[in-house]
Amino acid sequence: MTPNDAELNERVLRLKQERKAVILAHNYQIAEVQDIADFVGDSLELSQSAAKTDAEVIVFCGVHFMAETASILCPDKKVLLPDKNAGCPMANMITGEELRRKKAEMPGAAVVCYVNSLAEVKAESDICCTSANAVKIVQSLDSDDILFIPDQYLGHWVASKTNRKLTLWPGFCPTHVKIRPEDIMAVKKEHPAAKVVVHPECRPEVTAIADEVMGTGGMCRFARQTEATELIIGTEIGILHRLSKENPGKKFFPASKRAVCPNMKLITLEKVLWALEDMATEVKVPEAIRLNAKAAVDKMLEVGMGQPPDMSRRVAL
Ligand code: 13P
Ligand code: SF4
Repeated sequence: MTPNDAELNERVLRLKQERKAVILAHNYQIAEVQDIADFVGDSLELSQSAAKTDAEVIVFCGVHFMAETASILCPDKKVLLPDKNAGCPMANMITGEELRRKKAEMPGAAVVCYVNSLAEVKAESDICCTSANAVKIVQSLDSDDILFIPDQYLGHWVASKTNRKLTLWPGFCPTHVKIRPEDIMAVKKEHPAAKVVVHPECRPEVTAIADEVMGTGGMCRFARQTEATELIIGTEIGILHRLSKENPGKKFFPASKRAVCPNMKLITLEKVLWALEDMATEVKVPEAIRLNAKAAVDKMLEVGMGQPPDMSRRVAL
């Protein structure tokens, strides 16, 4: 840590206390941001921490849809995104209006919405999912007519694991599609004993050659539990910081060094400090959208806790 970073850290920690704030960071954040956070996790774990915290302010070090989910779950807390431009291109690949049009073509279909989506899209959906629980969510549904949005590759992987036919929206993650089978084979050639673990946002040609396919929270648990001492990681490279820190005896290799999410990298220690100084940028979801979006997120959390989703509970506008 440079003297500048040490001073920044101290100022962030001091102001965090004054503001009664908590700092949440996604597994893809840069090392300095992960290291100052109160909690580092995947999308699901971060939503759950947001819902549980008694802090008055949540500084969300991640991308816009994650801060929105925190705001959906905690309307009384101030949710700050340290850089308002930190969006998720996949989340922007479907709007509420586009989903309404698709639903009109598929009346009666159950809509499963990956949390990497806009609040207005969640509000039009029946149930949300994350990479950690998508298989369980789809398995919990009775309907044979399921529209899965917006990630076609996560949807493709879930269909293969559940044997369910899903109608897929053609969205994708621009970072994960950069990982190619030949990249993995090249790293595997250098480290033949390494296990290959990839995110389900990767293309089917990539998930097909992996030893394990899981979300970022699953990867962190797997890395701790596996006897393998070398792992090739097919996801955004920010996670290698946490994996190496938590498993000093193991070696982690990125499947592709090109797997960088530029939006995740917009959050810096300086911006975390400025967010706390200016109490900006606040992310707040309009109440009518929030209530319906919350119904879809709550149904996901119910299934996560082992209860079947109550699909009738939508809020009338
Ligand atoms: P996780 O929920 O697995 O952390 O994934 C979030 C994400 O944005 C992946 O690109
Ligand atoms: Fe969105 Fe992909 Fe970045 Fe995840 S890695 S936040 S899906 S662009």
